[in-house]
Amino acid sequence: MNFYSCLILITELLMTAMTLHVVGYSGFKRVQKAWYIITFVSIMLCAGAEFAIHGGYYDPSLSLFLTIIAVVQFSLAPLLGVFFSGALGLHHCGKIAIGYFLINLIVEAAAAPFGLVFYFDAAGYHRGEFFIIYEAFYVLSLVFLIVGMISVGKKFKHRDFWTIGMVVVILLAGILPMTFFKLNVTYIAIAISASLCYIYYNDLVQQDIQAELVENQKTISDMQANIISGLANLIENRDIETGEHIARTVDYVRIISENAKKDGVYADMLDDEFIMLMCRLAPLHDIGKIVVSDSLLKKPGRLTPEEFEHMKVHASVGGSVVRQVLNGVTDEEYLIFACDIATYHHERWDGTGYPKGMKGDEIPLSARIMAISDVFDALISKRCYKAEIPIDEAVEIIRSEAGSHFDPKLVEVFLRHEDEIRAAAEK
Ligand SMILES: [Fe+2]
Repeated sequence: MNFYSCLILITELLMTAMTLHVVGYSGFKRVQKAWYIITFVSIMLCAGAEFAIHGGYYDPSLSLFLTIIAVVQFSLAPLLGVFFSGALGLHHCGKIAIGYFLINLIVEAAAAPFGLVFYFDAAGYHRGEFFIIYEAFYVLSLVFLIVGMISVGKKFKHRDFWTIGMVVVILLAGILPMTFFKLNVTYIAIAISASLCYIYYNDLVQQDIQAELVENQKTISDMQANIISGLANLIENRDIETGEHIARTVDYVRIISENAKKDGVYADMLDDEFIMLMCRLAPLHDIGKIVVSDSLLKKPGRLTPEEFEHMKVHASVGGSVVRQVLNGVTDEEYLIFACDIATYHHERWDGTGYPKGMKGDEIPLSARIMAISDVFDALISKRCYKAEIPIDEAVEIIRSEAGSHFDPKLVEVFLRHEDEIRAAAEK
């Protein structure tokens, strides 16, 4: 086996290994794999044709046969850039490849009888006077590939320079020896560059997709939050005029949760996920009021004992209302969290609350945080049945009810960060 045959054999083995990797790697789409296989088969065919043409087994009686092989190879090889663009995910490569192949084929076949690009004589294969035609087709293919890579990336990024730089340098490493030293090592260069770039670039595209997914997730989350607070607002007020109570309540909930975590109070439970859920779902605490009549909700003055009993139902039905409204819209963790807040925000630390009469730590932490926030805002707000009271007085009431109505540790956090609470209340 001569040096040339050896190079071609190495190319074919290398290409086979890379193709196995690409086809086996699940991160690539089916259409991309198909294009990569087309690229692989083309490189194999071209390398095989080169082997036949330059392999050292030349027989003058075969010159017509070898000319046909050479024309096909010279028409197919410049398509590698187009095939590779298909593997990167560029659309319409099929039509472009067929058109480009036909143009190449016509030019090479027309030039063949005149020996312009290549010819065979008694000594074997030679380059023609216009071998540059073939190289020009190659370069055009390279340009197509680069344009394809840029368009696949959607937005041109700094990192794309490095990818394109890699392709250009490696392909030049194939084209330059072919031009100046008449060494045909092009396929090795193409095989290496195609494989490396494909894997590298695909990773970049995957990263883009990942970033897009995160962005979309955020949009959906924001929409969900808006729906929840809009819904809560409607239930609370039976109109769409004000969301102030809800916005303030969310502020208190956030201040208490974040500061409790910082102060080491229930820090093992208060992770970022908990705080996010707390803030997002706090607006739903009174969702059960949907079953309470308008006349009762808007009644001026105190409720009678019977009316108060009816009002208390909003807590016991809160969980099932949450399930009815949010089921299918959100996941189970979300649902449980929202149910806890809606059902238990009127429980009291000493066990005298409703609907279950739970005591102390039995009451979910989310509902205990909600209770302080809800009562505090109710105290400082004007309602149809009562006037607002000054913030100082409301803070005093919260302090005095630590251990009876409220979780004493959370009241401590509330009082320690009273300034932030006041700022939120006065907003
Ligand atoms: Fe309530």
